[in-house]
Amino acid sequence: MSGKNTQVVPKTRGLMNCSFHSLVAALLIAVFMVSGFYITREKNLLVEDHPERNKDADKSANYQMANENRTAPDGHREEEKSGSGLFSGCDLFSGKWVFDNKSFPMYKEQDCSFIDDGIACEKFGRKDLKYQHWRWQPHDCDLPRFNATAMLERLRGKRLVFVGDSLNRNQWVSMVCLVQSQIPPALKSMHINGSLMTFKANEYNASIDFYWAPLLVESNSDDLFHHRIPNRIIRAQAIEKHARHWTDADILVFNSYLWWRRPTLKVLWGSFESHDGIYKDVGMLRSYEMVLRTWSDWLDIHIDRVKTKLFFTSMSPTHNRADGWGMPASQKCNNETEPISKEWYWGIDSDPRMMRLVEASIDELKTKGLKVQILNITQLSEYRKDAHPSIHRMQWGSKEELANPMRYADCTHWCLPGVPDVWNTLLYTYIFHY
Ligand SMILES: *[C@@H]1O[C@H](CO)[C@@H](O)[C@H](O)[C@H]1NC(C)=O
Ligand SMILES: *[C@@H]1O[C@H](CO)[C@@H](O)[C@H](O)[C@H]1NC(C)=O
Ligand SMILES: *[C@@H]1O[C@H](CO)[C@@H](O)[C@H](O)[C@H]1NC(C)=O
Ligand SMILES: *[C@@H]1O[C@H](CO)[C@@H](O)[C@H](O)[C@H]1NC(C)=O
Ligand SMILES: *[C@@H]1O[C@H](CO)[C@@H](O)[C@H](O)[C@H]1NC(C)=O
Ligand SMILES: *[C@@H]1O[C@H](CO)[C@@H](O)[C@H](O)[C@H]1NC(C)=O
Ligand SMILES: *[C@@H]1O[C@H](CO)[C@@H](O)[C@H](O)[C@H]1NC(C)=O
Repeated sequence: MSGKNTQVVPKTRGLMNCSFHSLVAALLIAVFMVSGFYITREKNLLVEDHPERNKDADKSANYQMANENRTAPDGHREEEKSGSGLFSGCDLFSGKWVFDNKSFPMYKEQDCSFIDDGIACEKFGRKDLKYQHWRWQPHDCDLPRFNATAMLERLRGKRLVFVGDSLNRNQWVSMVCLVQSQIPPALKSMHINGSLMTFKANEYNASIDFYWAPLLVESNSDDLFHHRIPNRIIRAQAIEKHARHWTDADILVFNSYLWWRRPTLKVLWGSFESHDGIYKDVGMLRSYEMVLRTWSDWLDIHIDRVKTKLFFTSMSPTHNRADGWGMPASQKCNNETEPISKEWYWGIDSDPRMMRLVEASIDELKTKGLKVQILNITQLSEYRKDAHPSIHRMQWGSKEELANPMRYADCTHWCLPGVPDVWNTLLYTYIFHY
């Protein structure tokens, strides 16, 4: 298990390490870009584009009626009708990937300068681009098309904050890419301040932020760029220092998973600065539970139940062992060009016990009147062994790592455009339709 960990974590660090430079570069590009080409790929995903659509008779009458009205007379989805519960009765997370090179990708890699070198797969030589062309097709309904203008309108005067680790950052970059093509260069900006990265759409007074807190609470890995630390220490009760940066958010999207993948963590009672703190090794599940308790207590006390929408993105699967789908284990996700087609495929790195703990926390919050929606992306992402950067990313790290790119391939993060765009489409669906 620790062997696996040492592979997962360096990659996380790597993405963060090289990201600073690319973000600064991106900032400069954003500032100096005079004329951009704006992709207006607002082609609708009409119902008739979905030959795979499940037409089972046992769909609830309620859903069928809603579905009939999903496409407005002019063929445009009526995405503005919020709160209509159009998707109630449909499990958005249960479905399959359908090859669709007409509607996907939703943007081009070259058109989004905010994609950092850890996940810019085309830029780093990936030739097979099939991974960009898959649409997630729930069994019982169709996802709406992500509409960047509608999203920006919804975020007018608001703040959307992603809080978590580099996978959540992956999703944040995707969200920025999904909306940024609609904004002229002079009207958008990117700033970094401490652990907070802020994308701003000036005209809308909207900000889309990422806050680095890989273990949610205070830890010795809290530096956005320098968290290359082999032993995890957490202050399981201390979240305030992070949380004050997002108390006022209108939409919060949390995640925290991969940094927990080790048998135990050191829990600190006391502060990092003082010398009389008490350290204790605590089993991973137990410490995860403690932190989720701190997190949910904080939400319970500080979150404005009327104003703030809450989401928790479930664990992002890794594809570090190819024997899971019948290849030699050492091959990892290298050279994979197709999703896994076996229904319910579940990799060994996704720990359902941790998902249960998140669900339990969220169920308890519900009894206190706080609704947290789980973006249950694990199963749908499990299928996508083809969608990781593998060797197509900025190479970094130790000599040994540089000498063995295949062995140290990144099968953890996701190429953009790609799978996180679908996570954000699911988020979008919840924001507009629930
Ligand atoms: C569908 O649209 C029609 C016409 O606008 C309306 O009469 C009907 O109530 C709608 N059905 C549902 C389920 O919303
Ligand atoms: C899209 O896919 C179809 C069917 O696989 C193929 O014939 C066509 O060439 C593809 N088009 C592009 C632009 O990739
Ligand atoms: C996207 O949303 C905007 C603003 O709500 C709307 O005017 C436009 O028609 C939508 N585009 C599509 C293709 O649905
Ligand atoms: C801009 O948005 C922020 C929230 O992100 C809000 O506090 C502020 O009042 C808004 N400013 C204007 C001028 O609307
Ligand atoms: C950075 O964040 C701190 C709060 O953590 C704030 O006091 C400071 O003004 C911010 N700096 C900039 C340049 O925004
Ligand atoms: C994987 O692809 C690389 C080139 O990208 C090639 O050198 C290598 O032989 C391939 N490995 C397998 C097992 O197909
Ligand atoms: C998320 O999906 C998994 C498998 O697809 C399922 O076992 C789990 O119960 C789901 N969790 C929630 C909260 O829906």
